[in-house]
Amino acid sequence: MTRFVFLGPPGAGKGTQARQLAAALGVPHVAPGDLFREAATAGTALGLEAKRYMDRGVLVPDGVVIRMIADRLARADAKLGFILDGFPRTPEQAAALDELLADAGHSLDRVVFFDVDEPEIVRRLTGRRVCPSCGSLYHLVSSPPRVANRCDRCGSELILRDDDREETVRTRLGVYARQTAPLLERYRERGLLVSVPAGGEIDTVHRALRTATGVAP
Ligand code: AP5
Repeated sequence: MTRFVFLGPPGAGKGTQARQLAAALGVPHVAPGDLFREAATAGTALGLEAKRYMDRGVLVPDGVVIRMIADRLARADAKLGFILDGFPRTPEQAAALDELLADAGHSLDRVVFFDVDEPEIVRRLTGRRVCPSCGSLYHLVSSPPRVANRCDRCGSELILRDDDREETVRTRLGVYARQTAPLLERYRERGLLVSVPAGGEIDTVHRALRTATGVAP
């Protein structure tokens, strides 16, 4: 079974690693930030409400996120496992996740903390470019597209996320320190937490992630 939570500051590389590992394991990668951005692009009420919070770099209210994740984990493809990337981020969300899993007779297998220092985070986020059509991730320096500003997979024009401007990145780091970092202790006490040094190159981090989670290379 693979029921993993990826925790760490914004820009730590959670999404990059979650996509690779989820594809290798055949489980869904469940990321509330991605789900909100898809909903905002589709112009739904949920997406437009979430965007008001995301653009400011603050968390979407717990009730909204918890309902969305409960619906997503109830789908058939998540029955045998998932990688949760960016959920939970508050004690209320963590308690709700415990309850959801307990109701289904399940529990978490690992909580992975991505450990990166702040200057590297700012470098990663301000250089990040994303494809608004297929969600592919790039970095201007460490993983640039083959053709400048065009997605390798679908050719769409790449964009800078509204919340990746430096001032909003600083707000997000503060929100992470106050509201999310305290969860590390909760999972450490339960013996679920593993820490991955995530400041190195993508492949190096991926190898460390597989070792920490016991997933064969
Ligand atoms: P979300 O989309 O989850 O953003 P985040 O947690 O801030 O994480 P990021 O997506 O910014 O970073 P990441 O760690 O995934 O790094 P990535 O792999 O992309 O959330 C956005 C917003 O949604 C929140 O602010 C909030 O408003 C709302 N939200 C989401 N979840 C919520 C919740 N549970 N409750 C309430 N609100 C919620 O990598 C970053 C860059 O670095 C990329 O360019 C990548 O190419 C590059 N990179 C990655 N790894 C490496 C490496 N090893 N070396 C060099 N470059 C690298």
